[in-house]
Amino acid sequence: MSIEEKVQKHFHADATRFDAIYEEGQNPVTRFIDQVWRGVVRRRFALTLEKLRPLEGKTVLDVGCGSGRYCIAFAQAGARRIVGVDFAPGMIALANDLAQRAGVADRCEYRVGAFPDVVPDGPFDASTALGFFDYVADPVAILKALRSRTRSTMVMSFPKSGEWRAPIRRLRFRMAGCPLFLYSERRVREILAAAGVPTYEWIPLDRDYIVVGRL
Ligand SMILES: C[S@@+](CC[C@H](N)C(=O)[O-])C[C@H]1O[C@@H](n2cnc3c(N)ncnc32)[C@H](O)[C@@H]1O
Repeated sequence: MSIEEKVQKHFHADATRFDAIYEEGQNPVTRFIDQVWRGVVRRRFALTLEKLRPLEGKTVLDVGCGSGRYCIAFAQAGARRIVGVDFAPGMIALANDLAQRAGVADRCEYRVGAFPDVVPDGPFDASTALGFFDYVADPVAILKALRSRTRSTMVMSFPKSGEWRAPIRRLRFRMAGCPLFLYSERRVREILAAAGVPTYEWIPLDRDYIVVGRL
């Protein structure tokens, strides 16, 4: 099985559990675990929206959109068209359902397939790739493709390799049979330079580096 097939299989099977991160835990133990292990998912969500505002009338591409929580938030913030891409069918099924329930399905278009193959169109005003480069074997090629489809702002996360939770996370993903890629600050800066993204804001956030590229 290729790296992509392993990642796809993992997230297809794990879609419902992953999406539950966006719901508040019911008891104090669940809430504590959520805060330590998954708090970054919610914090980078709030930061991404802050960095992309104002979104009124804009088009957005969300790569590795998962259950589409970002796409819904972009639509609610006024974006006129959002394309979400994910190769895990379980994630896209959830995304379609959640967009319907939020009343924004007319502005959220979801595509099941690998990026960049399923996005021959664009460019979009903004693009996002949050919790995505963790599972990408060739980040320079993917970032070049993302850059060529973006007109002005790109928000991305790269998980830190030298962080106290990194060894446990590596072990957890190895046991789950899912490839995981972690990055040093130097490596991320090399990737950005090689992909032609020289101007960016650099924000260390919890276990991630958040990069806001300005084109
Ligand atoms: C951890 S989830 C993040 C979902 C969402 N961005 C969020 O933060 O809520 C990562 C997603 O990226 C998808 N993915 C990874 N590599 C991909 C690729 N090359 N093309 C499309 N989807 C990909 C996986 O299927 C998975 O659903």
